[in-house]
Amino acid sequence: ATNWIDVLASEDVPEDDVIGVDAAGKQLAIYSVEGEFFVTDNICTHGHARLCDGFLEGFEIECPLHQGRFDVRSGKALCEPLTEDIRSYPVKIEGGRVWVELD
Ligand code: FES
Repeated sequence: ATNWIDVLASEDVPEDDVIGVDAAGKQLAIYSVEGEFFVTDNICTHGHARLCDGFLEGFEIECPLHQGRFDVRSGKALCEPLTEDIRSYPVKIEGGRVWVELD
């Protein structure tokens, strides 16, 4: 079964930046890169840091705590000290809103 959740207006995501949102009991990071949107969990897989407080460069988000980097498209962990990928979610834009498929 699909479970698409309306998380925020697409215009509320700053261009080429990241914003944190709580939706359906989850903490999510919403990224806008070159007009495309991506969503991952917001809490780093390495420690208790929020990726929305990190630094987005292209498709890579850098954790503010130990500078681990994830690819926001896949959630793939790209460097040390990360050992675990971060969960990423399907996204669609409809009616000017960002929708995320949670389960
Ligand atoms: Fe994110 Fe350590 S908490 S890299």
